[in-house]
Amino acid sequence: MLKWLGLAILLVIVGGVAGCSTFLLPRVNETPETSPAKPDLLAPIGGMAEVTTPEAWREIRAPFWRNMLLSQVYGSRPADIRASTVSRKVIDPEFLDGKASLIGVQLSLAIGAETYRQDVHFVVPNTKGPHPVILGAGSCPNDVTLPFDGVERPEDLAYPGYCDHDGFGMSIATFIFGRYIETPPLEALIDHGFAFGAYYPGMIVPDASEAGLEALAELPKTDMDHGPYGAIGIWAWVASRITDYVETDHGLDETRVILFGHSRSAKVSLLAGALDPRIAGVIAHQSGTGGASVQKNGVGESIEEITETYPHWFSPSYALYAERADDLPFDQHALVALMAPRLLLLGNSARDKWSDPKGAFTAAKAAGAVYALLGSETFDARDLGDFDPDADLAFQFREGTHGITPEDWTPFLAWLDAHFSE
Ligand code: GCU
Repeated sequence: MLKWLGLAILLVIVGGVAGCSTFLLPRVNETPETSPAKPDLLAPIGGMAEVTTPEAWREIRAPFWRNMLLSQVYGSRPADIRASTVSRKVIDPEFLDGKASLIGVQLSLAIGAETYRQDVHFVVPNTKGPHPVILGAGSCPNDVTLPFDGVERPEDLAYPGYCDHDGFGMSIATFIFGRYIETPPLEALIDHGFAFGAYYPGMIVPDASEAGLEALAELPKTDMDHGPYGAIGIWAWVASRITDYVETDHGLDETRVILFGHSRSAKVSLLAGALDPRIAGVIAHQSGTGGASVQKNGVGESIEEITETYPHWFSPSYALYAERADDLPFDQHALVALMAPRLLLLGNSARDKWSDPKGAFTAAKAAGAVYALLGSETFDARDLGDFDPDADLAFQFREGTHGITPEDWTPFLAWLDAHFSE
């Protein structure tokens, strides 16, 4: 009884704070910054000529930015050894009133001589496939993303404390960060013909500074061209390994793999998409620092703040730029541009200054030149609120704070339908 009373009081306090923050947090206005992202991604640099053709981008300049980003921000990436499937089990063939099947897949991922368990749980429409599939990186284990019978959490799995809800119906996270912070609108996804795959990238490297750094240090060093590993780089590699599995599953369409992530998981999804050409599209929602937002504008979370609080997320090189972001030989628009000409939606909200929506807009503007060079359209949104569901590189901006709400999934679905429905 006392426990429930305590939780109720906590909920009222948390709800009050969350409610007030909607009005107290400063609102980012919708006018884009006038100064462009630096440097120009196509201009002459380090003895290389200006990029004027798709070939020059693909063969010379894109690998150049990729190497920069890996060596200075994300660290080395393990060799691309294909995932092997340990088991695949239909947990519920009549899920969502018979509309879908709930399927549990256990993969084994190899780094050097070691293998690591990775679980993925899919919700797949019970209609004729193959279906486009959205792979959602969760900040919590799969049983939190998909809280249904038969979705089990491995016993020895390390995970952040906030993932435990202790049977409390509406989780506090959902209360603060929006209805869809943990579980996406599954029924809507199924009705629109999309399969959803939930994975928790923290299975191999936990999302905790000490334990994360220890796990990184213990990973076999297979291909260390870009310096020490960082967790975001490993988590992005996990997304590629799950894509290996998708290629083997006839119910899923390997040509329509979309990565979805929010905040830290958006950084992961964007990096994974940028590095793996098999990924057809990415929705990176509120990815911020280390994601789509440029650093050199000095707005939002700084490199110093992110590398101090999350030392395991990046290669140690990134922290060297803590007080001198201007010395970075690139900015995050290079990461956004590596997605070109594939489909990318950058989600943002008006009172989420920490993730710097304007910085993401600046990055999108610069990356638009690369989209245009590669035969897609340039990024022509006039201001942050100018969402175009048909755009290959789309920018979405809603009212409110950090989180995932119905006002996010409505435009996400419009964009997904425009690009991936048959
Ligand atoms: C922190 C962190 C952000 C991150 C966010 C999240 O706020 O500073 O960089 O995106 O957590 O993952 O929710």
